[in-house]
Amino acid sequence: MSKKTKWGFSTKSIHTGNVPDKEHGSVSPPIHLTSTFKQDAVGKNRGHDYSRVSNPTRSRLEENLSAIEGASFAVCYSTGMAATTALFQLFNQGDHILVSRNTYGGTYRMAMNVLSRHGISFDWIDTRDPENIKEKIKTNTKLVHVESPTNPLLELCDIKATAEICKDKNILLSVDNTFMSPYGQRPLDLGADITMQSSTKSLSGHSDVLGGVLATNDESIYDKLQFMLKATGGVPSPFDNWLTLRSTKTLALRYQKASDNASDLANFLSEHPLIKRTIYPGLNSHPQHKIAIKQQMNPKGEVVFGSMLSIDVGEIELRDKFLDKIEIFQLAESLGSVESLVCVPFFMTHAALPDEIKLEMGITETLIRLSVGIEDIEDLKLDLSNALNK
Ligand SMILES: Cc1ncc(COP(=O)(O)O)c(C=O)c1O
Repeated sequence: MSKKTKWGFSTKSIHTGNVPDKEHGSVSPPIHLTSTFKQDAVGKNRGHDYSRVSNPTRSRLEENLSAIEGASFAVCYSTGMAATTALFQLFNQGDHILVSRNTYGGTYRMAMNVLSRHGISFDWIDTRDPENIKEKIKTNTKLVHVESPTNPLLELCDIKATAEICKDKNILLSVDNTFMSPYGQRPLDLGADITMQSSTKSLSGHSDVLGGVLATNDESIYDKLQFMLKATGGVPSPFDNWLTLRSTKTLALRYQKASDNASDLANFLSEHPLIKRTIYPGLNSHPQHKIAIKQQMNPKGEVVFGSMLSIDVGEIELRDKFLDKIEIFQLAESLGSVESLVCVPFFMTHAALPDEIKLEMGITETLIRLSVGIEDIEDLKLDLSNALNK
């Protein structure tokens, strides 16, 4: 076993892909802002020839992300959606994909409005019960794609049990792990074939960059993804790669603090008389609390419940007053950042879903999603409490 694979999560996130540059020894790696590379002779380059195909800053980030995912390979994209699109494009006309029913709204929009036109079919199913997944598998099903926890209802999927079903049926399992980040959950260790992250969220963590990544231990999948990226071109810029590489160094500190803050706030909100429903995997009231304990853990093996929680205030007037009065939480799309954010999924992140589907699942007009940041917990609590004060 090499020294690198024995390193702990933070040591890997700080050092892997971050070796000082050969020329000047800069401790912070250089950003290779170049589209092309001088070749020494025809067919003789120094490792890179054109930045759509590969770029040294992207290679550093891919090395870093594969190390913290516990994966052999990682491929980086310009956004999370570009990563999910590439994942689904592994499949062909006539193939069928099963997806968690309240996955991120953009995944639904892309699948139903773009790839469906190309002959790939999708079913959006409840992935809380592995037996339900088993029942929904068809003869042409090639992939089960789950989010756990889902966005914004925080429904969980038992990843290990689902991986066993998929292996048995010879179907691939991919997990959108954006809500947990590799610090809070490592799906490949639980048997998944591919993990997807929107690195726009916790991996970068400062609301200043877009990105996506797919990670796998399967070399043939990696080769296909690399080929498709070269062919289709949805690559991230060197500067964005550098920002994400800089940010993963603090992922463990940021994610742990945000998750601790969210746990504290979930307990506080679940007892608040104006809130009809508080959804958080760390609460005993969460129907799948035990699954969270089983699969959501930091690299030291301690349970982490994540930085996301949702509340339903039941009345539109109360929702609007809350949003008007809240100060520290910013009304904005996105999540996983150092600053706390708040959104109304019905009209924002999940606008692409038909209203009847949202309502059937429990995404109401008064459901508010909180992405908890790393501010001082006393200030966050006071902010929420003031905003809920009639
Ligand atoms: C769970 C999840 N997956 C994927 C995405 C898409 O990522 P991006 O916005 O980087 O394209 C998002 C965006 O909010 C998300 O929340």
